[in-house]
Amino acid sequence: MQKKTSVPYYRIVLLGSGNVALQLGQALRQNGLHIAQVYSRNKDHAAALAAPLKATPVSSISKIEKNADLYILAVKDDAIAVLAKKLHLKDKLVVHTSGSVGMEVLKPASSSTGVLYPLQTLSKSRKVNWRKIPLCIESNSKSGKVLLKKIASRVSDETLWITSEERKLLHLSAVFANNFTNHLYVIAETLLKKKKFPFRLLHPLILETALKATELGPVAAQTGPAIRHDEKTIKKHLKMLASEKEYRPLYLSLSKSIRKK
Ligand SMILES: NC(=O)c1ccc[n+]([C@@H]2O[C@H](COP(=O)([O-])OP(=O)(O)OC[C@H]3O[C@@H](n4cnc5c(N)ncnc54)[C@H](OP(=O)(O)O)[C@@H]3O)[C@@H](O)[C@H]2O)c1
Repeated sequence: MQKKTSVPYYRIVLLGSGNVALQLGQALRQNGLHIAQVYSRNKDHAAALAAPLKATPVSSISKIEKNADLYILAVKDDAIAVLAKKLHLKDKLVVHTSGSVGMEVLKPASSSTGVLYPLQTLSKSRKVNWRKIPLCIESNSKSGKVLLKKIASRVSDETLWITSEERKLLHLSAVFANNFTNHLYVIAETLLKKKKFPFRLLHPLILETALKATELGPVAAQTGPAIRHDEKTIKKHLKMLASEKEYRPLYLSLSKSIRKK
Protein backbone atom coordinates (compact mmCIF):
# COMPACT_ATOMS: atom_id res chain seq x y z
CA MET A 1 0.00 0.00 0.00
CA GLN A 2 2.83 2.40 0.88
CA LYS A 3 3.81 4.63 -2.04
CA LYS A 4 7.51 5.05 -2.67
CA THR A 5 7.32 8.54 -4.19
CA SER A 6 7.82 11.45 -1.80
CA VAL A 7 4.71 13.12 -0.48
CA PRO A 8 4.45 16.89 -0.06
CA TYR A 9 4.12 17.74 3.62
CA TYR A 10 0.49 18.50 4.38
CA ARG A 11 -0.94 18.97 7.84
CA ILE A 12 -4.28 17.24 8.22
CA VAL A 13 -6.70 17.60 11.13
CA LEU A 14 -9.13 14.72 11.52
CA LEU A 15 -12.37 15.46 13.35
CA GLY A 16 -14.23 12.38 14.59
CA SER A 17 -13.14 9.09 16.08
CA GLY A 18 -15.57 6.59 14.54
CA ASN A 19 -15.41 4.09 11.67
CA VAL A 20 -14.45 6.53 8.92
CA ALA A 21 -12.04 8.60 11.02
CA LEU A 22 -10.14 5.45 11.99
CA GLN A 23 -10.10 3.81 8.55
CA LEU A 24 -9.38 6.98 6.59
CA GLY A 25 -6.82 8.17 9.14
CA GLN A 26 -4.93 4.89 8.80
CA ALA A 27 -5.13 4.99 5.00
CA LEU A 28 -3.80 8.56 4.90
CA ARG A 29 -0.95 7.72 7.25
CA GLN A 30 -0.06 4.50 5.41
CA ASN A 31 0.26 6.57 2.26
CA GLY A 32 2.72 8.98 3.82
CA LEU A 33 0.35 11.77 4.84
CA HIS A 34 0.62 13.46 8.20
CA ILE A 35 -2.28 13.64 10.62
CA ALA A 36 -1.43 16.54 12.90
CA GLN A 37 -4.43 16.38 15.26
CA VAL A 38 -7.39 14.14 16.01
CA TYR A 39 -10.41 15.89 17.50
CA SER A 40 -13.24 14.20 19.40
CA ARG A 41 -15.61 15.62 22.02
CA ASN A 42 -14.58 12.64 24.06
CA LYS A 43 -11.01 12.86 25.40
CA ASP A 44 -10.53 9.08 25.49
CA HIS A 45 -11.81 8.63 21.93
CA ALA A 46 -9.44 11.33 20.67
CA ALA A 47 -6.49 9.75 22.49
CA ALA A 48 -7.32 6.22 21.28
CA LEU A 49 -7.26 7.23 17.62
CA ALA A 50 -4.47 9.80 17.84
CA ALA A 51 -1.99 7.27 19.27
CA PRO A 52 -1.74 4.91 16.25
CA LEU A 53 -1.88 7.89 13.88
CA LYS A 54 0.98 9.60 15.78
CA ALA A 55 -1.20 12.69 16.04
CA THR A 56 -2.00 15.04 18.89
CA PRO A 57 -5.38 14.36 20.51
CA VAL A 58 -7.66 17.35 21.15
CA SER A 59 -11.07 17.37 22.78
CA SER A 60 -11.71 21.09 22.81
CA ILE A 61 -12.56 23.06 19.65
CA SER A 62 -10.37 25.95 20.81
CA LYS A 63 -7.31 23.64 20.74
CA ILE A 64 -7.77 22.82 17.04
CA GLU A 65 -4.91 24.37 15.12
CA LYS A 66 -5.82 27.03 12.57
CA ASN A 67 -3.05 26.51 10.05
CA ALA A 68 -3.49 22.96 8.82
CA ASP A 69 -3.90 22.34 5.07
CA LEU A 70 -6.95 20.12 5.36
CA TYR A 71 -9.69 19.55 7.95
CA ILE A 72 -11.70 16.33 7.57
CA LEU A 73 -15.03 16.18 9.42
CA ALA A 74 -15.68 12.44 9.73
CA VAL A 75 -18.53 12.85 12.20
CA LYS A 76 -22.13 11.69 12.08
CA ASP A 77 -24.25 13.47 9.51
CA ASP A 78 -26.23 15.63 11.98
CA ALA A 79 -23.03 16.82 13.65
CA ILE A 80 -21.38 18.16 10.47
CA ALA A 81 -23.30 21.46 10.38
CA VAL A 82 -23.08 21.84 14.17
CA LEU A 83 -19.31 21.43 14.09
CA ALA A 84 -18.88 23.62 10.98
CA LYS A 85 -20.49 26.54 12.83
CA LYS A 86 -17.91 26.24 15.61
CA LEU A 87 -14.84 26.17 13.36
CA HIS A 88 -13.44 29.44 12.08
CA LEU A 89 -10.83 28.48 9.54
CA LYS A 90 -10.98 31.38 7.07
CA ASP A 91 -9.86 29.87 3.75
CA LYS A 92 -8.44 26.51 4.90
CA LEU A 93 -9.89 23.49 3.10
CA VAL A 94 -12.66 21.89 5.18
CA VAL A 95 -14.33 18.70 3.92
CA HIS A 96 -16.81 16.15 5.24
CA THR A 97 -17.12 12.46 4.40
CA SER A 98 -20.89 12.03 4.17
CA GLY A 99 -22.83 10.62 1.23
CA SER A 100 -26.05 12.45 1.99
CA VAL A 101 -25.06 15.90 3.29
CA GLY A 102 -24.54 18.80 0.90
CA MET A 103 -21.20 20.58 0.72
CA GLU A 104 -22.83 23.93 1.55
CA VAL A 105 -23.31 23.06 5.25
CA LEU A 106 -19.56 23.64 5.65
CA LYS A 107 -19.83 27.28 4.56
CA PRO A 108 -19.69 28.73 8.11
CA ALA A 109 -16.31 27.03 8.67
CA SER A 110 -14.35 28.31 5.67
CA SER A 111 -14.54 29.85 2.22
CA SER A 112 -12.90 26.68 0.86
CA THR A 113 -15.04 23.60 1.35
CA GLY A 114 -15.37 20.14 -0.08
CA VAL A 115 -16.40 16.52 0.27
CA LEU A 116 -14.39 13.31 0.39
CA TYR A 117 -16.99 10.52 0.34
CA PRO A 118 -15.68 6.95 0.32
CA LEU A 119 -18.21 4.74 -1.49
CA GLN A 120 -17.67 1.76 0.77
CA THR A 121 -19.05 0.35 4.00
CA LEU A 122 -16.51 0.99 6.75
CA SER A 123 -16.30 -0.45 10.24
CA LYS A 124 -13.54 -0.05 12.80
CA SER A 125 -12.80 -3.77 12.92
CA ARG A 126 -12.60 -4.42 9.14
CA LYS A 127 -9.52 -3.73 7.06
CA VAL A 128 -10.40 -2.57 3.55
CA ASN A 129 -8.38 -2.00 0.40
CA TRP A 130 -8.55 1.78 -0.01
CA ARG A 131 -6.88 1.66 -3.45
CA LYS A 132 -10.11 0.18 -4.82
CA ILE A 133 -12.60 2.41 -3.00
CA PRO A 134 -14.21 5.04 -5.25
CA LEU A 135 -13.55 8.37 -3.55
CA CYS A 136 -16.21 10.90 -4.53
CA ILE A 137 -14.69 14.34 -4.27
CA GLU A 138 -16.06 17.85 -4.62
CA SER A 139 -14.79 21.32 -3.76
CA ASN A 140 -16.01 24.87 -4.24
CA SER A 141 -12.52 26.36 -4.67
CA LYS A 142 -9.72 25.98 -7.19
CA SER A 143 -7.07 25.44 -4.52
CA GLY A 144 -9.41 23.00 -2.74
CA LYS A 145 -9.86 20.98 -5.93
CA VAL A 146 -6.10 20.71 -6.45
CA LEU A 147 -5.35 19.67 -2.86
CA LEU A 148 -8.29 17.27 -2.54
CA LYS A 149 -7.40 15.51 -5.78
CA LYS A 150 -3.75 15.13 -4.66
CA ILE A 151 -4.68 13.73 -1.27
CA ALA A 152 -7.49 11.45 -2.51
CA SER A 153 -5.20 10.06 -5.22
CA ARG A 154 -2.61 9.11 -2.60
CA VAL A 155 -5.18 6.82 -1.02
CA SER A 156 -7.26 5.45 -3.89
CA ASP A 157 -6.83 4.68 -7.60
CA GLU A 158 -10.40 5.75 -8.25
CA THR A 159 -11.24 9.38 -7.52
CA LEU A 160 -14.37 10.88 -9.07
CA TRP A 161 -15.53 14.49 -9.26
CA ILE A 162 -19.14 14.30 -8.11
CA THR A 163 -21.58 17.09 -7.28
CA SER A 164 -23.55 17.07 -4.02
CA GLU A 165 -26.72 16.14 -5.93
CA GLU A 166 -25.03 13.25 -7.74
CA ARG A 167 -23.47 12.05 -4.49
CA LYS A 168 -26.87 11.93 -2.77
CA LEU A 169 -28.10 9.59 -5.52
CA LEU A 170 -25.00 7.38 -5.16
CA HIS A 171 -25.64 7.26 -1.44
CA LEU A 172 -29.29 6.29 -1.93
CA SER A 173 -28.21 3.52 -4.28
CA ALA A 174 -25.62 2.37 -1.70
CA VAL A 175 -28.33 2.19 0.98
CA PHE A 176 -30.18 -0.35 -1.18
CA ALA A 177 -27.04 -2.25 -2.23
CA ASN A 178 -25.51 -2.45 1.23
CA ASN A 179 -27.69 -1.39 4.16
CA PHE A 180 -30.89 -3.09 3.03
CA THR A 181 -29.10 -6.18 1.73
CA ASN A 182 -27.35 -6.53 5.08
CA HIS A 183 -30.65 -6.17 6.91
CA LEU A 184 -32.02 -9.02 4.80
CA TYR A 185 -29.05 -11.11 6.02
CA VAL A 186 -30.15 -10.29 9.57
CA ILE A 187 -33.64 -11.59 8.76
CA ALA A 188 -32.19 -14.71 7.11
CA GLU A 189 -30.09 -15.35 10.21
CA THR A 190 -33.13 -14.91 12.49
CA LEU A 191 -35.08 -17.47 10.46
CA LEU A 192 -32.16 -19.93 10.48
CA LYS A 193 -31.93 -19.65 14.27
CA LYS A 194 -35.46 -21.06 14.61
CA LYS A 195 -33.96 -24.44 13.72
CA LYS A 196 -30.55 -23.66 15.25
CA PHE A 197 -28.83 -23.49 11.85
CA PRO A 198 -25.61 -21.43 11.81
CA PHE A 199 -25.49 -18.35 9.56
CA ARG A 200 -22.32 -19.71 7.96
CA LEU A 201 -24.49 -22.13 5.93
CA LEU A 202 -25.42 -19.09 3.86
CA HIS A 203 -21.86 -17.80 3.39
CA PRO A 204 -21.26 -19.46 -0.03
CA LEU A 205 -24.67 -18.25 -1.25
CA ILE A 206 -24.03 -14.67 -0.08
CA LEU A 207 -20.59 -14.51 -1.65
CA GLU A 208 -21.77 -16.02 -4.96
CA THR A 209 -24.74 -13.62 -5.07
CA ALA A 210 -22.41 -10.63 -4.76
CA LEU A 211 -19.94 -11.97 -7.32
CA LYS A 212 -22.70 -12.85 -9.78
CA ALA A 213 -24.30 -9.42 -9.51
CA THR A 214 -20.96 -7.74 -10.23
CA GLU A 215 -20.12 -10.08 -13.10
CA LEU A 216 -23.50 -10.62 -14.82
CA GLY A 217 -25.25 -7.44 -13.66
CA PRO A 218 -28.04 -7.61 -11.07
CA VAL A 219 -30.95 -7.97 -13.50
CA ALA A 220 -29.44 -11.03 -15.21
CA ALA A 221 -28.36 -12.48 -11.86
CA GLN A 222 -31.88 -12.56 -10.36
CA THR A 223 -33.23 -16.01 -9.46
CA GLY A 224 -35.94 -17.25 -7.06
CA PRO A 225 -39.69 -17.87 -6.95
CA ALA A 226 -40.74 -14.26 -7.71
CA ILE A 227 -38.82 -13.97 -11.01
CA ARG A 228 -40.08 -17.47 -11.99
CA HIS A 229 -43.68 -16.46 -11.16
CA ASP A 230 -43.80 -19.56 -8.96
CA GLU A 231 -47.02 -18.70 -7.11
CA LYS A 232 -47.20 -22.06 -5.30
CA THR A 233 -43.85 -21.56 -3.56
CA ILE A 234 -44.66 -17.94 -2.78
CA LYS A 235 -47.91 -19.02 -1.08
CA LYS A 236 -46.02 -21.61 0.98
CA HIS A 237 -43.52 -19.00 2.10
CA LEU A 238 -46.27 -16.55 3.03
CA LYS A 239 -47.94 -19.26 5.10
CA MET A 240 -44.66 -19.90 6.92
CA LEU A 241 -44.42 -16.16 7.60
CA ALA A 242 -48.03 -15.85 8.84
CA SER A 243 -46.97 -14.95 12.37
CA GLU A 244 -44.12 -12.70 11.25
CA LYS A 245 -45.70 -9.22 11.21
CA GLU A 246 -42.49 -7.55 10.06
CA TYR A 247 -41.13 -10.03 7.53
CA ARG A 248 -44.35 -10.95 5.70
CA PRO A 249 -44.99 -7.46 4.23
CA LEU A 250 -41.29 -7.22 3.30
CA TYR A 251 -41.47 -10.57 1.47
CA LEU A 252 -44.58 -9.45 -0.39
CA SER A 253 -43.22 -6.05 -1.31
CA LEU A 254 -39.83 -7.39 -2.51
CA SER A 255 -41.50 -10.18 -4.52
CA LYS A 256 -43.76 -7.59 -6.18
CA SER A 257 -40.78 -5.39 -7.02
CA ILE A 258 -38.84 -8.37 -8.49
CA ARG A 259 -41.84 -9.36 -10.66
CA LYS A 260 -42.06 -5.82 -12.06
CA LYS A 261 -38.49 -6.12 -13.39
N1 LIG B 1 -19.29 3.96 8.09
C1 LIG B 1 -19.49 3.98 6.79
O1 LIG B 1 -19.66 2.93 6.17
C2 LIG B 1 -19.44 5.29 6.02
C3 LIG B 1 -19.10 5.25 4.67
C4 LIG B 1 -19.03 6.44 3.96
C5 LIG B 1 -19.31 7.64 4.59
N2 LIG B 1 -19.67 7.65 5.93
C6 LIG B 1 -19.94 8.96 6.55
O2 LIG B 1 -18.83 9.30 7.38
C7 LIG B 1 -19.29 10.03 8.53
C8 LIG B 1 -18.86 9.30 9.80
O3 LIG B 1 -19.45 8.01 9.81
P1 LIG B 1 -18.93 6.88 10.82
O4 LIG B 1 -19.45 5.59 10.32
O5 LIG B 1 -17.48 7.05 11.06
O6 LIG B 1 -19.72 7.27 12.13
P2 LIG B 1 -19.48 6.76 13.61
O7 LIG B 1 -18.56 5.58 13.62
O8 LIG B 1 -20.80 6.63 14.23
O9 LIG B 1 -18.69 7.96 14.27
C9 LIG B 1 -19.36 9.18 14.40
C10 LIG B 1 -18.44 10.20 14.99
O10 LIG B 1 -19.19 11.41 15.10
C11 LIG B 1 -18.84 12.05 16.28
N3 LIG B 1 -19.93 12.94 16.72
C12 LIG B 1 -21.22 12.62 16.91
N4 LIG B 1 -21.91 13.71 17.29
C13 LIG B 1 -21.02 14.73 17.35
C14 LIG B 1 -21.11 16.10 17.67
N5 LIG B 1 -22.29 16.65 18.02
N6 LIG B 1 -19.98 16.86 17.62
C15 LIG B 1 -18.80 16.30 17.27
N7 LIG B 1 -18.65 15.00 16.93
C16 LIG B 1 -19.74 14.23 16.98
C17 LIG B 1 -18.56 10.93 17.27
O11 LIG B 1 -17.69 11.52 18.14
P3 LIG B 1 -17.33 11.12 19.64
O12 LIG B 1 -16.06 10.38 19.52
O13 LIG B 1 -17.20 12.42 20.28
O14 LIG B 1 -18.47 10.29 20.17
C18 LIG B 1 -17.91 9.87 16.37
O15 LIG B 1 -16.54 10.03 16.34
C19 LIG B 1 -20.79 10.17 8.36
O16 LIG B 1 -21.04 11.39 7.72
C20 LIG B 1 -21.17 9.01 7.45
O17 LIG B 1 -22.32 9.27 6.69
C21 LIG B 1 -19.74 6.49 6.64
